[in-house]
Amino acid sequence: MKKAKIILDRDYQVGQVDPRLFGSFIEHLGRAVYGGVYEPGHPRADEEGFRGDVLEKVRELNVPVVRYPGGNFVSGFRWEDSVGKNRPRRLDLAWDTTETNQFGLHEFCHWAKKAGTQPMYAVNLGTRGPEAAREIVEYANHPGGTALSDARIANGEKNPFGIKLWCLGNEMDGPWQIGAKTAYEYGRTANEAAKLMKWVDPSIELVACGSSAYDMPTFGTWEMTMLEECYSNIDYVSLHRYYGNPTGDTPGFLARAMDMDAFIKTVVSICDAIRGKKHEKKRLNLSFDEWNVWYHSNGQDSEIRKNQKWGQALPLLEDVYNFEDALLVGTMLNTLLRNADRVKVACMAQLVNVIAPIMTRNGGGCWAQTIFYPFAQASKYGRGTSLQVLTQSPVYDCRDYEGVPFIDASAVLGEQGEVTLFVVNRDMEEDCLLELDLRAFGELKPGEHWVLHHSDTRAVNTESDPFQVAPVLTEAPVPQGGRVEVPVPALSWNVVRFQ
Ligand code: AHR
Repeated sequence: MKKAKIILDRDYQVGQVDPRLFGSFIEHLGRAVYGGVYEPGHPRADEEGFRGDVLEKVRELNVPVVRYPGGNFVSGFRWEDSVGKNRPRRLDLAWDTTETNQFGLHEFCHWAKKAGTQPMYAVNLGTRGPEAAREIVEYANHPGGTALSDARIANGEKNPFGIKLWCLGNEMDGPWQIGAKTAYEYGRTANEAAKLMKWVDPSIELVACGSSAYDMPTFGTWEMTMLEECYSNIDYVSLHRYYGNPTGDTPGFLARAMDMDAFIKTVVSICDAIRGKKHEKKRLNLSFDEWNVWYHSNGQDSEIRKNQKWGQALPLLEDVYNFEDALLVGTMLNTLLRNADRVKVACMAQLVNVIAPIMTRNGGGCWAQTIFYPFAQASKYGRGTSLQVLTQSPVYDCRDYEGVPFIDASAVLGEQGEVTLFVVNRDMEEDCLLELDLRAFGELKPGEHWVLHHSDTRAVNTESDPFQVAPVLTEAPVPQGGRVEVPVPALSWNVVRFQ
């Protein structure tokens, strides 16, 4: 058995965890909306057509914020189509499908309320611009007495929706994006949209598009150029990152959070460099508003898009997640928590059916995928203050990285003084005896230890076998003199808690 050690101290803190670190994302894409959150006629649908079984699972994940309506979809979207009685059907050029607009802004805000979450709304800076952006802020957030706010009232919503967090477009550097822009074009447009949106409602916060990925050729230059134009009027820079394991290289795949960490640190450096250059007081934070595993469905999606072009609510991006995906998600959550001083918003992409922790069958059941569990546990126990984790772990090398620690961890001090560690053992072969040095916390009661493990890295959850991969409670670790040894199985996600 390998050995590793973690030392924690309540005074060595990363920073306060913003609850919005456990956000998610719903796009008008595939069956995320239609057949996902919304399915009138389903036996579990409520009077507004929202699936009750999905709402239950979303509440279990406890997501404080949900980004909507896209994604690539938003860059060709007219928000006016999604409110009122006249809902035109439109071609969605982002996903080669037909959008009915049956579910729109009002429905989303109602659903969000029932789900116990807050909307994070993206405006279209692809085919549209500052004017449409300011108009939707006025429609959604202005109390009344203007044509737009009165239209909201006439459409049944007397009180403003009060949407606080807004995205200035989506992945505007990507050639696949409808209305993609150069960094300068985007920076200018984002700045003007931001100014107008904040003039309408000064209480809102705005996220500007960073590069759509760390390995975009324009990464870095994009951030610097667009921030030169819009730094003063925005609050966050977005990051997006998806990983896959198409070659079946599990050690290499499980090391990918190292890329995520480097990505975050590089964007932080760029934001701070521009801040210095511009003599700005305000410090920008990050919104990691798309992250997950995404690759399983790629082949199937090409077929669907080719053979069923302009179909409705097609089963796109329906990745079926396996056990090793849950482990990578665990290390991604650890990475977000270890960077909680600067990453204030993060959205697992997405929430239902589309690269999602929650799956449904039209007219049928709803179940949790493997990745549901690390997310649910981190969201439940990861609120409080992120602590610095001093990890002494044996390491391994793989194709893209040297010195990957077998033990990957984050730790959070809760408001009642409880200490929670999230630990992934990346080792394919050996268990690890993990020594925790918690002397700085004084006397601790026996803890709680949840383990997510499966002997098959390819194991999945399905509608008929939904708990193949699910966490189990194991023997309670008993601290003595502030130290405790916790056995951490090979290839496992662990939640270790002390009061
Ligand atoms: O989440 C799926 C897609 O991934 C989003 O629409 C886009 O923003 C990203 O490329």
